[in-house]
Amino acid sequence: MSHLTRRELLLGSSATLVAASAGAFAAGSASANAHSLTLSHLDYGILPGTVTRCMLSFAPDGPPPVLRVKQGEMAAIVVTNALDEASVVHWHGLRIANGMDGVPYLTQYPIGAGEKFRYAFTPPDAGTFWYHPHCNTLEQMARGLTGVLIVEEPTDPGFDSDLPLNIRDFRLGGDGQFISLFKARSAARGGTLGTVSTVNWKPAPDFDLQAGSLVRLRLAVTDVTRVGSYEIEGGEAMVIAIDANPLPVPVPARGIELSPGQRADIALRVPDREEDAVRLVLKRKFDQKVIARFLPRGASVKRSLNELVPLQPNPVPRPDLNNAEVLDFIFGWSPEGDAPQASICGTLGYTFWSINRKAWPGDVPGPFDPLAVLKTGKTYVLRLRNETPNDHPIHLHGVSFHLLRSNKRKLAPHVTDTALLRSQETMEVALVADNPGDWAFHCHVIEHQKTGLAGFLRIEA
Ligand code: C2O
Ligand code: CU
Ligand code: CU
Repeated sequence: MSHLTRRELLLGSSATLVAASAGAFAAGSASANAHSLTLSHLDYGILPGTVTRCMLSFAPDGPPPVLRVKQGEMAAIVVTNALDEASVVHWHGLRIANGMDGVPYLTQYPIGAGEKFRYAFTPPDAGTFWYHPHCNTLEQMARGLTGVLIVEEPTDPGFDSDLPLNIRDFRLGGDGQFISLFKARSAARGGTLGTVSTVNWKPAPDFDLQAGSLVRLRLAVTDVTRVGSYEIEGGEAMVIAIDANPLPVPVPARGIELSPGQRADIALRVPDREEDAVRLVLKRKFDQKVIARFLPRGASVKRSLNELVPLQPNPVPRPDLNNAEVLDFIFGWSPEGDAPQASICGTLGYTFWSINRKAWPGDVPGPFDPLAVLKTGKTYVLRLRNETPNDHPIHLHGVSFHLLRSNKRKLAPHVTDTALLRSQETMEVALVADNPGDWAFHCHVIEHQKTGLAGFLRIEA
């Protein structure tokens, strides 16, 4: 079967699936798992005393909403594209059916201006995830299209409240207007950093929290570029999950390194006294800054962190390392002469990077060859080799992987969808290829992704 035929089949069958489930939902009662998003233009005040024009959101009137769905239950999200350009929405970290993954041409056609698309999926894992476009990705994300998606556990671990923190920068000038969204010379290096750090679209916000209560902070780094180290100061706080997967043993919330796309769930015991503010600190190369504060309010309810019920591990299959096949991936510069192709999903106009010596040409119909073909049910070890002097957060759609080892450092055993591959590092990760489809595989520094550092793995049904 040719790739094109297969792709047409794939797109055809997912369209049928959507139509069928739309009928089922219309017949049923309104569900808590039913949501709608409207990709919208808006003007919004980020910096005090200014209004930033030409922002983008998933709602017409403010920051992207936090979506909450339930583990193991079907959720439906109707996306209306009210922009004047195409888009598509990807649910980062969710191990769902390929046709719902939101990657242009690989899993669906872009959603044209004025069109709708209904996503329906059943998330197998609980935890903190996020969502963003995968079309004109740098511009759309840089202007605001990054939101937090929470998959709730069936049993409540016992928090008094839950606070999603959408952490990202914007590239704004002093007048609050966007400046160039990227610089080519930075795209060819570590990526272009933003100028204003925000949490939930606010610079250094304060959050009032019940004194003495237990709060689940859900950090989601949705920035297009920034790798940072995060810390909670002034309160008792433990990291309980990274990238939606619970840590077997929680660790103090210090030196939490998160790259674009990564998340951390933190259990915070709010201090008893109103004067004891807790701070979320972003440590950068040469300085550090408080990006949010949590202020104890009212009389202490005197909770204790050990009252929390530990989170259950997500049902990610265990790799069979004795019967694994090794696949090599080299992340490097782009070979000479690979020109980016024009696309309705935009191009930055440059090619700088490659995977296995091939630069991704852009979000165009293809067909393209996968970087590797995997057999359903089999274990693979991916050997990820970074030949470049820059760091690359490597992200795989549709399947979670286990960190095994690195030639540069000791890795804690962990399950994730995004791992920071440091400059010149070789890392081995393992996965069970249990989810058939064509799965995007790319760097989550979006300028790198859009200038070649992208491809896909095919898991054969
Ligand atoms: Cu967070 Cu390919 O995506
Ligand atoms: Cu993703
Ligand atoms: Cu990169």
